[in-house]
Amino acid sequence: MDEILTRIVSIKEAFQQNLQAIQTLKEFDDLKVSFLGKKSQLQALLAEMKNLTVDSRRVVGPALQELKAFIENTIEQTRQEFVEKKARSAIEKEQNFDVTAYKPGISFGKLHPYSQAVEEIEDIFLSMGYEILDGPEFESDFYNFTALNIPQDHPARDMYDTFWTNKKSMLMRTHTSPVQVRSMQTKQLPLAAIVPGRTYRHEAVDATHDFMFMQCEGFFVDKDVTVAHLFATAQTFLKQLFKKDELDIRIRPGFFPFVEPGFEIDMRCPFCTQGCSVCKRSTWMEVFPGGMIHPNVLKAGGIDPDVYSGFAFGFGLSRLVMLKYGIDDIRHLYGGKLRFLEQF
Ligand code: PHE
Repeated sequence: MDEILTRIVSIKEAFQQNLQAIQTLKEFDDLKVSFLGKKSQLQALLAEMKNLTVDSRRVVGPALQELKAFIENTIEQTRQEFVEKKARSAIEKEQNFDVTAYKPGISFGKLHPYSQAVEEIEDIFLSMGYEILDGPEFESDFYNFTALNIPQDHPARDMYDTFWTNKKSMLMRTHTSPVQVRSMQTKQLPLAAIVPGRTYRHEAVDATHDFMFMQCEGFFVDKDVTVAHLFATAQTFLKQLFKKDELDIRIRPGFFPFVEPGFEIDMRCPFCTQGCSVCKRSTWMEVFPGGMIHPNVLKAGGIDPDVYSGFAFGFGLSRLVMLKYGIDDIRHLYGGKLRFLEQF
């Protein structure tokens, strides 16, 4: 019997040693099999019980049961601790992840050409005292049309191929102009702001049209604002963007229900003098629609048109970015192709 008790002690010691060496979850299962399974020493001892005297069995029996319970419980408990420790160290690893860490050979990212151009455009207008505003892309019929002097059922709505939504009177804004009235309602005068942002039209997609594109609205409302301010602003901006000391503009009449009078402001092609493929051989490029804000729009914004006046413009930001960088297909601008993007 003494011999059996010594074996019990040595099984326990062996078990504890093996337990300490464990590295993976699977090893817990293996340990269980080798110490409690059919071929384990413990099972062998249990089988030997029948050869013992009744008195010996009374001592050995409980000792074996105790050993069995000890092995079972210890495996269970250690396994649980092991799982928790692993999870903790995974979290710590993530928390200690250093996003600024430099890995040799890795190439640095940079801003998308669109973002680079927007930053430049924002800087030009900031230098002229404008602020930069934002507005919702999911817009109401009121701000996108009605407040801009385009009433319900008016044919001027046909100018815009609108994405209507399931929500009544809500749409994806067709231009950035809704932010004109939104900001008049909430801001103090004088108000000078630009609004670069996404706009949506139900267009067939080709090299120069997309159903989503970028516009930049701009407006200035104060006492005694005139068309001369609009033209000077357009010219100053375009000269700086295309880095020209001189850049002629020309003015043609243009129709937009929310301006009166309305204009198309063209600039001399910055890439040629005689006509090229970019300006379609005309040496002029149509880039800058604008006009004096219609009295009805000022009224919708809570501003008295007899006291105040203002100008507004809304140019195609995507188009200008394409012109500036010589990009010939609008789809490149919104695709994620690295071979294209790495050129900028
Ligand atoms: N919102 C007009 C458009 O998208 C552009 C515009 C803005 C024209 C402001 C005049 C004044 O077509």
